[in-house]
This record gives sequence, structure tokens and C-alpha cells, in this order.
Amino acid sequence: MSQAIFPGTLLLPEMRKVNIGLVGCGTVGSGVVQALSRNGALMGSRLGVKLSLAKVAVRNPRKARAARLAKRMVTNDWESVVRDPKIDVVVELMGGTTTARKVVNEALKLGKPVVTANKALISAHGESIFKLVEKNGGNLYYEAAVAGGIPIIKSLREGLSGNRIQSLYGILNGTCNFILTQMELEGRSFEEILLDAQRLGYAEAEPSLDVDGFDAQHKAGILASLAHGFWIKPNQIFVEGIRHITTLDIQFARHLGYCIKLLGIVKKIGDKVQIVVHPTLVPEKHVLANVSGVYNAILVRGDIVGDTLHYGQGAGADATASAVLSDLADASLDLKNVSMGRVPPFVPHDQKGSVLPIEESVNPFYLRLSVVDKPGTLARIAAILGESKIGICTVFQPEGHVGESVPLIMMLHDATDAAMQKALKRIGRLSAVKAKPTMIRIENFN
Ligand code: NAP
Ligand code: HSE
Repeated sequence: MSQAIFPGTLLLPEMRKVNIGLVGCGTVGSGVVQALSRNGALMGSRLGVKLSLAKVAVRNPRKARAARLAKRMVTNDWESVVRDPKIDVVVELMGGTTTARKVVNEALKLGKPVVTANKALISAHGESIFKLVEKNGGNLYYEAAVAGGIPIIKSLREGLSGNRIQSLYGILNGTCNFILTQMELEGRSFEEILLDAQRLGYAEAEPSLDVDGFDAQHKAGILASLAHGFWIKPNQIFVEGIRHITTLDIQFARHLGYCIKLLGIVKKIGDKVQIVVHPTLVPEKHVLANVSGVYNAILVRGDIVGDTLHYGQGAGADATASAVLSDLADASLDLKNVSMGRVPPFVPHDQKGSVLPIEESVNPFYLRLSVVDKPGTLARIAAILGESKIGICTVFQPEGHVGESVPLIMMLHDATDAAMQKALKRIGRLSAVKAKPTMIRIENFN
């Protein structure tokens, strides 16, 4: 077998060799190969193992890629990598939920440890994958699946394991945070900035996963499940993306002392867990308002520790490679110490856990309407809000907008999502309202 043992590795006779089989060598896979060639020897010396990249499967072995790979090492047959008895640990970095699921399942059935960055796969099929781990004695490591280089999975499962998690607020998608930041700084269009995010390797192969909020939904689901002890599937999580956010909303929000972030919110409300992903007005003095560009941050409140903040780059080859290397370190130590189940991938501990329906979720709201500038318009809108028992906090009609319709901004007091949606439907039907209303939920972090 052709292998890359990293230059500078200090070989001690008792060192355990760990052969890595990589499936997928695109943005993240190439980052991992480069990071291993840069720091693999140092990492091996720290762990007392000899890390060796042994085989790599890709779709097209002839494609030029950022990482240099010996030709002999590369194949387009993932099964030959996973099934090779010399491969000790399989790293799945191909993405998607069909073939990737086969790769992960096959490796786990063989009792091999698997490292993956695939949040879509873990979120949708975690439960069945964890059962395979339990049955066959391997392990699954997925630090890179959530928040790029931030060790948030380790923090929740190990560092904060003595706490009940009361709330968790996360900027969990680097692409969306990059887009919202650049829209504010440069006033460029959403589409233009998305192209930059793709070029920089932040976006998913299918960028709708990012901008429509699904990627953050997968990540929020994984974090909420770890925090609350029952597996929460994507279809249980309310999601709204950022496509409808305009530079106008970003400017008006600033004027009102807020900035707009795509947040994953997990809160214990009574005996239920609220878990939602949506654009959110965050007070500009709040720490999460100052998380810019591709950076992610997760504010976790534990009943014993209080608030903890976890911050770092949330996407891109290097940040994600750092998390994959951390998982490779854990897998290597578990192989070396024969302690494969030391930290199981997920331990269900609340059989009765349930998710708060979005209709019952309570927030203040920002509302932007496009209305005809005629007397009586505001009164009609206020009447609907009054009948819906939604209080108005601020009304603001920015100057300088002329034409058939003008923007009308309202900040509304706490209401249930159900009441707000009902009122919005009625407001949207008024003849004075010229476009679909834009509603953004506000978070005050109480
Ligand atoms: P990518 O650039 O599209 O790379 C996918 C890789 O998988 C490519 O090397 C491709 O081969 C290979 N592949 C696809 N189908 C295959 C098959 N049937 N057999 C063998 N190889 C196959 O994707 P990525 O951005 O690196 O993302 C990979 C995973 O990491 C995804 O699950 C993603 O959600 C996750 N992730 C990404 C980031 C990020 O910042 N990009 C961050 C965290 C997690 P070819 O190169 O020959 O086409
Ligand atoms: N596309 C994802 C993001 C990659 O932008 O956050 C990191 O998971």
C-alpha cells in the first residue's frame, strides 16, 4: 500500500500506526490532506501514534485538486477504501445523504471508526447510524459537522456535561453570516456575495442548503439533540432562510439599534424545547451582533456554568480540517488505548422530550410593509394588529422614499407566531399594502 507518513514523525517502537482512508477530497478533503501534511507529524508525536494517509476515493481521480496526492493512492471506488483491512479509520468527506450513508454504514458494520463532516447525514439518519455504532463497536466522530473549527460538539458532550443546557443561540452557517455581513458593509447584491462564498469554499455543493437555512437547521438539530437527550429530526425544526432579507431591512434594523443574523435558537420552555432557525434582529450591543463574515459563534447557557461563548471560523477548508484532525486525534487515541466507546456519539437520556410547535413560540417582531402613502393606511394596519392583540412599540416611515409605495416599519411587542401569522395574512390582503410583508423575529436573549 502506498502511504504518506508525515515527514518529521518521530517513530518510537511502541507507536501505533493509524491508516486513514479518505472518501471525498474536495474543499474539505483537500484541506485535511494539506493540514495532515503540515501538522500530521506534530499531531502524531503528541498522541503517540503514527498517522498515515493510506487511500483516497474521489469521483474523478483525474481532476486537478488543491491537495497533492500520489496517483497510486487515489481511486474512484470508495468500497475498496472502506473494505481494505489495512484501513483503520474512514473519513467521509463527500457530502450528500445517499452514497455517503452507504460509506458510513459500511465502515461501521466493519467495526471501523468513522470521522465525518456531514451534518445533513447525521441530522437525518443519526439514530440509525448510532445504532450501528452500538452494535458493531466502532465509533462516529462528527466535530466538523457543526460550526467549522469550533469544538462545540466536544464542549457539549464533555466540557459542559455537568450542566442542564437552558439556552443555546448559534450563528451556525458561515455562508449566510458572510452574505449578511457583506450586504451591510458593501451594499452588494445577495447573488454576487453568494458567488464569493462559493469561490472561497464556504458554501455547500448545493448552496440552497445554506441560504434557505437547511444547513443551520441540521446543525441546530444536532446541538439541540446533544443538549436535550432526544434525537431531533430536521422536519421537527422550524426553518426560514435569508433570501428575503434586503439591504433595506439591514439598514432599517441598524437605524433601530439591531443587526440581522441567521440564528439557530434552542431554549427550554417549560417541559418542551423550542428549536428554530430564522433571520433574527439581534440588539447591536449583544456579543452575537459582532460576529462577522464567515465566523460562527454559539452562546450556551448552562445552569451551573452560566454563559459560555464559542467562537471561530464556521466554514472553509482550513477551519473544517482543524475539526477533522481533532476527530482523527480522538479516533487514533481510542484505537491506541482500545477505548473505542469512551465517548459514544449520542446518549439518549430524555425519552419524553418534545419540541415546542412554532405556533406557540413567542417573540417581538420587526415588520416592513410597502404601503401607499395615503391617510388611513396606518389606522387600518393598527386596527388589525389591535384585534390580534399585538401591541405596537415603534412606527417609523423613513424619509426619502417617493413613488407609488413607501416603506413602513413597525416594531411589535411579544406575540405568538400563530397570532402574528394570522395578522400578517390580513394585513397582506389590504389594498394599501403593495408587496408581501417582511416579518423578522427579534431576540432579546432574556
Ligand atoms: P466538495 O468540495 O463538493 O467535495 C466532495 C468530494 O466528494 C469531491 O472530492 C468528490 O470527488 C467526492 N465524491 C463525490 N461523490 C463521490 C463518490 N461517489 N465516490 C467518491 N468520491 C466522491 O464538498 P466539501 O465542501 O468538501 O464538503 C464535504 C462535506 O463536508 C459535506 O458533507 C459538507 O456538508 C461538509 N462540510 C463542508 C464545509 C465547507 O466549508 N465546505 C464545512 C463543514 C462541513 P471529485 O473531487 O472527484 O468531484
Ligand atoms: N456551508 C457551510 C457553512 C459549511 O457555510 O456554514 C460549514 O458547515
